[in-house]
Amino acid sequence: MDLVSIFLLNLALPLFFELSLCQTDCNGCCNPNTYKVINEPRRSINSIWKQGQTAICDGTLSWGWYRFTSYVGGQMPTSRVNPYHCGTVAPIWLRGKHPSSADLTVTVQACTNFFNLSNGCHQPFNVKIRQCSGSPPFFVYYLKPTYSCAVAYCAGTIKPCGYGQVYLMNQCVGKFRL
Ligand SMILES: *[C@@H]1O[C@H](CO)[C@@H](O)[C@H](O)[C@H]1NC(C)=O
Repeated sequence: MDLVSIFLLNLALPLFFELSLCQTDCNGCCNPNTYKVINEPRRSINSIWKQGQTAICDGTLSWGWYRFTSYVGGQMPTSRVNPYHCGTVAPIWLRGKHPSSADLTVTVQACTNFFNLSNGCHQPFNVKIRQCSGSPPFFVYYLKPTYSCAVAYCAGTIKPCGYGQVYLMNQCVGKFRL
């Protein structure tokens, strides 16, 4: 290899790595054509999984930006969530703060509460959060598939409505009482 090629390679390699790292940078992530929507009230921290119910599993989630749109709320929890919450067995919560203003991205640790192992933060990994402008502003999260089931990302705080109920004007009402 001649010197010019080595020189070019030295320029190109860091650029290549930078580009591959950049893939998780926002890059239009607040655009509805870019982020994917998850509308699942059972992901609420006040939704408790019980034996016999199907537990939510994010093992098949594809890498990418996500917005939680359910009526239970759109934010992932930033304090420890106990096992069997969020409609799953091992809930994922965030150790860190949401970005405080629009168009800011932060990286925080995501913790899996796997039967309270490691103080509720088993095998932490990084999640990016972007605050998007809107009325009201909202957050999108860069997520990856979980390594196993039943492990799932939490979002929202409102207790989901029971079966046969719908959420209407800030409360759960029977479908047939309308
Ligand atoms: C996990 O720890 C919390 C808080 O210490 C406790 O309330 C809960 O019962 C524990 N859950 C399991 C499944 O061990």
